[in-house]
This record gives sequence, C-alpha cells and structure tokens, in this order.
Amino acid sequence: PDPTRIARSYEKGKVNMVPTRDWTSGFVAGSYRYMYEYTQDADWLAAAETWTAALESQKNNTRTHDLGFIMYNSYGNGLRLTGNETYGSILLQTADSLMTRYSPVVESIRSWDHGEWAFPVIVDNMMNLELLYFASKYSGDDKYAKAATTHANTTLKNHFRDDYSSYHVVDYDPETGEVTAKQTHQGIADESAWARGQAWGLYGFTMVYRITRDQKYLERAEKIANFYLTHPNLPDDMVPYFDFDVPDNPEIENFRDSSAAAVAASALIELAGYVDATDAARYRKAAMDMLHSLASPAYSASEGTNAHFLLKHGTGRWQADDEVDAALNYGDYYYIEALLRCAAD
Ligand code: GLY
Repeated sequence: PDPTRIARSYEKGKVNMVPTRDWTSGFVAGSYRYMYEYTQDADWLAAAETWTAALESQKNNTRTHDLGFIMYNSYGNGLRLTGNETYGSILLQTADSLMTRYSPVVESIRSWDHGEWAFPVIVDNMMNLELLYFASKYSGDDKYAKAATTHANTTLKNHFRDDYSSYHVVDYDPETGEVTAKQTHQGIADESAWARGQAWGLYGFTMVYRITRDQKYLERAEKIANFYLTHPNLPDDMVPYFDFDVPDNPEIENFRDSSAAAVAASALIELAGYVDATDAARYRKAAMDMLHSLASPAYSASEGTNAHFLLKHGTGRWQADDEVDAALNYGDYYYIEALLRCAAD
C-alpha cells in the first residue's frame, strides 16, 4: 500500500521490502506501466502514476549508478506512454545526477561507492546508459550521449574475455584510468561467467546499437548472444544456472536465475530486429524457448502464490545467501517486457 516501500523479492517465505533508493525500486512502477500499455486498464495507469511519483526524490541521488534502472523504467516508460513533460524534466535532472559519477580519466561512470574498490564499474552499468542518451535527445546537449558512448567503449575494451563472456566488476585507478582488477561480486569466481551479467551486456549493447547505429555494438551483442546460446552448460529449458560455470560445483549446481532468462529473452527479441533472416530466426526461437519455459509451471507461480510475484527461481547473490531461489521484481519486469515485445513483433 505504501509506494515508498517497494516489494523487491520473495524468498524463504518472506517479502523483502526496500526504500526508493534501492536499485530495484523502479521495476514495480515500470511493470504497472507495461500492464497499462497492454491492457489500457485505468487501474494499472493509476497504480503506475502513484508508484512512479513516489520515486521523484531519486532524481537528486548521486550515490548510485542505478538511476537508469530506478528512473528510466518508471519515468521513462511513463514519458513514452503519456508525453507528460514533468516526467521529462525529472529525467533530465536524474541524468545530471548520474553525470556526477562520470570520470573523464577512467572514461566510465562509477558504479558503486561501497566496497574495497577504488573506481568499480560493473557490466550491469550498461543498462543505465539509455537514460543518458534520452537526456541528450531531450535537452539538445550531447554531453550525456558522449559520456554514455565513451562508457560503452570502455566496457567493450575492458570487460570482455576472448570468448566474449564478461567480467562482472572491473576496478580502475581513478588517477590514471588504468585497470587494476577484474573480479566478480555475484558470480562464483572472478573468471566465471555470472549469468545475469551476460544478459545485462547482451541487452545493453543491443540498446546502444539501437540508439547509435554503430556496427561495433551490434557485433558485440551478437558475440555475447553466441556465447550464451551455444554454451554447453545452458540447460535444455534455456533458463541458465546463476553462473554458467556452476555445473563444475555439485553443491550449487541446481540454482537457476529466471531473471537472467527474462533479460536475455527481451534482449534477443530486439536483437532479432537488427540482423539477417537466419540469425533473426535463431534469436527469436531462443527467446521463445526461454519464454515458454518461464511461462510454464516450472517457473511461473500459480495465481495467489509466490507473494504475487510472477516468476520463481531467480538468484540475487548466491555467495551471500541473499535472494537464492527467489522471486525478483526485476525478473518480473523483464519477463513482462519480453512478452510485450513478442506481442509487438
Ligand atoms: N544490478 C544488480 C544485479 O543484477 O543483481
């Protein structure tokens, strides 16, 4: 009932509620907005507007890189569907807050302020760039888009291995911009491929290609898709283990991440629109296989269960026993988005 307390996840019989500064706070408003887009039902619109308005204070938050997740999924979808100019100015203020985290020396936006790192950048941060591209288009000032493209190029250069899997965290020396460490925070090992990170990269580079039309981003998105879809450890139901390298470890090999599948499915549907017919058919089939699995009772909760979250079997951060075999609001958001993209395709 209180839109400043957001249901982030459900695990071990308990709903985890978070304040508006949490990285997941925009997914509920965004999901309501998507439900309104599909149903045109005024109740969803009213819910979307209430839950979006509750996030306004985050336009001044300079302590996180997650402003795209928080504000673009809520206010950005709101602006797209209603043309409400107030939403546009709130998003521009949010982009200014995100820009305070951009370093011209590192040529990246700093992800986190916590931890032992000096200037950590995580692959997830690709998802926040859409807000900056929007801000340039909206304001006519290209500084936001330039920062976004520079960040994407730095990620392209430093986050990927030869097989096009990505590191989760790259740490930089803020004085020189040199890479000082390549690590994980949510995967099982620094050299492993954390599944949701692969999905963020796939989605992020597809989105940057949509906006810039620079071929190198499309090529990278396709390389990531190939790593993901041809990986021998991708289960037959196309819902990945929370880390592609988990099957080496019998103690943890059963934990999937339905949210990674939802993000990847949504990204693949978009990617299919930018490639030749053969690859498009391959990406669409993979996305449909993922969505059929997610829609099945194996992953979709029956009505009234799962604390009303849609998907089961997500993984937040396995190492900390945090949101393991859980329902995750971002899994639900990207699942709904993928279904809408299917419906429009
Ligand atoms: N961006 C945080 C996560 O994917 O868990």
